[in-house]
Amino acid sequence: MFMKTLRKVGLFGIFLMTFMVVGSSCAAQSGDAEAGKKWYAMNNCGSCHGPHGNDGRAVNIAGLDMGFGSFVRKLRKTDAPIMPGFPESKISKEDAADIYAYLKSLK
Ligand code: HEC
Repeated sequence: MFMKTLRKVGLFGIFLMTFMVVGSSCAAQSGDAEAGKKWYAMNNCGSCHGPHGNDGRAVNIAGLDMGFGSFVRKLRKTDAPIMPGFPESKISKEDAADIYAYLKSLK
């Protein structure tokens, strides 16, 4: 009887964990544009790309015509000698997803 209950709880635990892992990876894909606006300002992206992504001296990134994967790669290691790379320690994947959502929301 006791073992049976334990097995049930165990299975349920695994089910719950799977659900949580799947849930969090989905959250990383759909960022929060409001938060992204904050990270964008905090990391001074606007000093080069402009406060609205399209009014700076660097390339226009408003609306951003690239996938999330490419965006993160560009962020981590840029092609430009001017743009600094932003490692995970500065901008986490979740924050990057927020910035991505923010840029996507711009025109
Ligand atoms: C010191 C200036 C500078 C800063 C700060 C900067 N960038 Fe850039 N960025 C550039 C330049 C110049 C390029 C163009 C060269 C290239 O494509 O890598 C660029 C390119 C990019 C690209 C690629 C655009 C494309 O169409 O290929 C993205 C995306 C981007 N920046 C996002 C950001 C974000 C987000 C931040 C803040 C976390 C940021 N940048 C901070 C100068 C900067």
